[in-house]
Amino acid sequence: MPVVIVSGTGTEIGKTVVTAAVAALALAGGRTVAVLKPAQTGVGPGEPGDTAEVTRLAGAVTAVELARFPEPLAPATAAARAALPPVRPEEIAEAAGKLATEHDLVLVEGAGGLLVRFDAAGGTLADAARLLGAPVLVVAPAGLGTLNATALTTEALRARGLDALGVVIGAWPAAPDLAARCNLADLPDVAGAPLLGAIPEGAGALGPADFRAGAGGWLAPALGGDWSAGRFAATFAPGPGAVPGRSRA
Ligand SMILES: Nc1ncnc2c1ncn2[C@@H]1O[C@H](COP(=O)(O)OP(=O)(O)OP(=O)(O)O)[C@@H](O)[C@H]1O
Ligand SMILES: [Mg+2]
Repeated sequence: MPVVIVSGTGTEIGKTVVTAAVAALALAGGRTVAVLKPAQTGVGPGEPGDTAEVTRLAGAVTAVELARFPEPLAPATAAARAALPPVRPEEIAEAAGKLATEHDLVLVEGAGGLLVRFDAAGGTLADAARLLGAPVLVVAPAGLGTLNATALTTEALRARGLDALGVVIGAWPAAPDLAARCNLADLPDVAGAPLLGAIPEGAGALGPADFRAGAGGWLAPALGGDWSAGRFAATFAPGPGAVPGRSRA
């Protein structure tokens, strides 16, 4: 599994934090890691982007950006408005493939959700995944609304012949509500892919030592940790549902 695409249901859902946790565990296991952010938007020259955040949290990874566009927009739109060349899926695949010859693991973090466009021809991260033959890790929110967005994402993967490695919850709340608790059982079901972890809310604000010490408890063995979906779901299993018309008195 040298190249893994880290995508998800949208923006600001924890892709960078999940990428950092996967990278931290790989580094702890003695593997070399590269992190590729093909298009970094919403960040000016010299400002830290997502790969800087992964480096801060995870440690010594090779961090690569192919392009940076200042406006916080989809890469295709941001590139056009900046009159800069866009990043094409072929370039993403080529860069990731080259990094894979030099590293044990290459994590490619998309921009926003899976079908966000990178160029005017409609190229997406899914096209890069197909060119690479790489599996896609789907990062998803914990609460209400995540089932539909996650199902749409994995359906789009399947429609393109792509492999959904699994789903990771980007930010698991300290006080999960009923929807989040029920989603632990429903997410893997609607996704047709296993739940491979849940990053606690607030983890992205931890210092590097605490983040690296915690990562193994947030991700499943498939991603290098010892998190168990069954144990986690049992811990947070909701009580019996309300039955209409029946008194609980
Ligand atoms: N588990 C978490 N703990 C703390 N903060 C988090 C967590 N998950 C996400 N965040 C915060 O939420 C914001 C968005 O998270 P993140 O940058 O990982 O999202 P993203 O999916 O990578 O977004 P983008 O599409 O912009 O790359 C960040 O400010 C991040 O610090
Ligand atoms: Mg990010």
